[in-house]
Amino acid sequence: MSEAQQRILSMTYFDQVAEAAAFVQSRLQRFQSCSPQEPGCDVAFSSRKRHLSPKRGEHVNSGTALGALAPRVGMVLGSGLGAVADAVADAAIVRYQEIPHFPQSTVEGHSGRMVAGLLGGAPVIVMQGRVHSYEGYTPREVTFPMRVLGALGVRAVVLTNAAGGIQDGYKVGQLVLLADHINMMGWNPLNGPNEPRFAARPGAGLRFFDMTEAYSKALRQMAAEAAREDGFTLEEGVYLATPGPSFETPAEIRAFRTLGATLVGMSTVPETIVARHMGLEVLGISCVTNLAAGLGATPLSHEEVNETGRMVERRLAGLLKRLAPRIAAMVEQEP
Ligand code: HPA
Repeated sequence: MSEAQQRILSMTYFDQVAEAAAFVQSRLQRFQSCSPQEPGCDVAFSSRKRHLSPKRGEHVNSGTALGALAPRVGMVLGSGLGAVADAVADAAIVRYQEIPHFPQSTVEGHSGRMVAGLLGGAPVIVMQGRVHSYEGYTPREVTFPMRVLGALGVRAVVLTNAAGGIQDGYKVGQLVLLADHINMMGWNPLNGPNEPRFAARPGAGLRFFDMTEAYSKALRQMAAEAAREDGFTLEEGVYLATPGPSFETPAEIRAFRTLGATLVGMSTVPETIVARHMGLEVLGISCVTNLAAGLGATPLSHEEVNETGRMVERRLAGLLKRLAPRIAAMVEQEP
């Protein structure tokens, strides 16, 4: 075993998260002090003016979490929903494969990069692609990126996903706000010793903590209002998470409906649990990419999931652009 491998094995999970966050932070600070023309400065610059970034040669404000940007709002983009990242202005990109200890997304439709920049004028850090337990990752690996977001100073996260619609009346392509969830993954990412140092707010990081309002009411109201302004309605639903990767059987969907689920998917719940453990506010948005098994006329496929995602991602991008500054204003008031 090499020395580097031995070092990684001897590191605690907490230290791995800290190392990953420090890496992302240093990369983003370097990006912000780079010019688009500068060779070796691996930055994707959008066509929009760079409002907050310092000019070339200028020193970045290293007193804040991410140089001049300091995003307090994080976003995770689900299957087929990655284009929201294109709406990020002044984008600096860090690929997951470059970040130490970071799990790699192996699913088609998940690109695997962090995009930091301005959305609707507010600093955000967007994760384009996530990892799932069905890819072979452990619960702690699945939630590692969420821990990194917390360590980077993020205080509110928007978790998006593709989901099968269980409730009668849901239309393919509809966006639904998560009001609650049911964890049917068979595991909880917080199994094992509690690590209180992950707390991002006073009173967080507890062994046992409340999940009554896992999905922030205030953020849901904000999202519903932003959608109304965009000319559509956002209903609220209950998301049930399965381990996947097989889609459900019609009998499972009937059982889930009886349990109170209106949406079914294979992600989000572990991230929400870990985000709440850290004390982060969570907004969950599902895109109904298909009617759940047994409810539609055609067999379910990952292609359909991605195709519907792509149809809806513009609408989602518009919504998140409206929302980002409002969420940022809410969490920026905090110390
Ligand atoms: N089931 C589980 N996960 C999903 C579905 C589904 O029908 N659609 C998109 N993700």
